[in-house]
Amino acid sequence: MRLILEVWRQDGPQAQGRFETHEITDATPEMSLLELLDRLNHQLVEQDQDPVAFESDCREGICGTCGIDINGVPHGPEDNVPACGQHVRSFHDGQTVRIAPFRAKSFPVIRDLIVDRTGLDRIIQAGGTVAVDAGTAPDADTIRITHHDAEEALDFAACIGCGACVSACPNGAAYLFTGAKLAHLRLIPAAQQERSKRARSMVAQMEQEFGPCSQIGECALACPAKIPLRAIAAVNRERIRAGFRSRSKEN
Ligand code: FES
Repeated sequence: MRLILEVWRQDGPQAQGRFETHEITDATPEMSLLELLDRLNHQLVEQDQDPVAFESDCREGICGTCGIDINGVPHGPEDNVPACGQHVRSFHDGQTVRIAPFRAKSFPVIRDLIVDRTGLDRIIQAGGTVAVDAGTAPDADTIRITHHDAEEALDFAACIGCGACVSACPNGAAYLFTGAKLAHLRLIPAAQQERSKRARSMVAQMEQEFGPCSQIGECALACPAKIPLRAIAAVNRERIRAGFRSRSKEN
């Protein structure tokens, strides 16, 4: 298969970026997008050119590092699939494929296709831990939790923190990400400690670095973990609950 790749190249955060065009003549339908980039880099190195910088780790949809924008869509043409799980078979012979870094003001480009997603880490740092001494962990089977709550918590815990939701959102909002964390932790008995403090801190940090949510819903379509839109409701619910609790001076 022959593909024309228009790839974003940028030497550093302050450098001017541009699209570079390359042709791959031996792509195969079963290749993943990352393997296509590997193929391109092999070609570039053989021509004594710098390879394209991009991130990947697990290449099986777990780590969330591989986020790139394909033809204007975070991760690529298949809904709810990370870039490492997208395949060349989604394109036709001779097609032009535009590959760019995730686009969001809060994700500045570090180099080529690599962006700085530490804004998401700062949301986690703001409230993702319990600061009080909770003693040693009790046996798991002594903590009562309904099957429904356990399943629901696991569904929200599936977020891999890739940032596709932010890139897909015209406002650059991180509501789906933050909501997934809050909805996950609110259901776990051991995480009830500091639940309101956590909600206040994480939402404040989110609002400091990311845009507002206007409920367009693109975030849920791009999410490789299929985090549902009701995660956004969790942000508002936890925020309102925390507001009432702060008036009554409870956690
Ligand atoms: S490389 Fe880990 S999710 Fe894609």
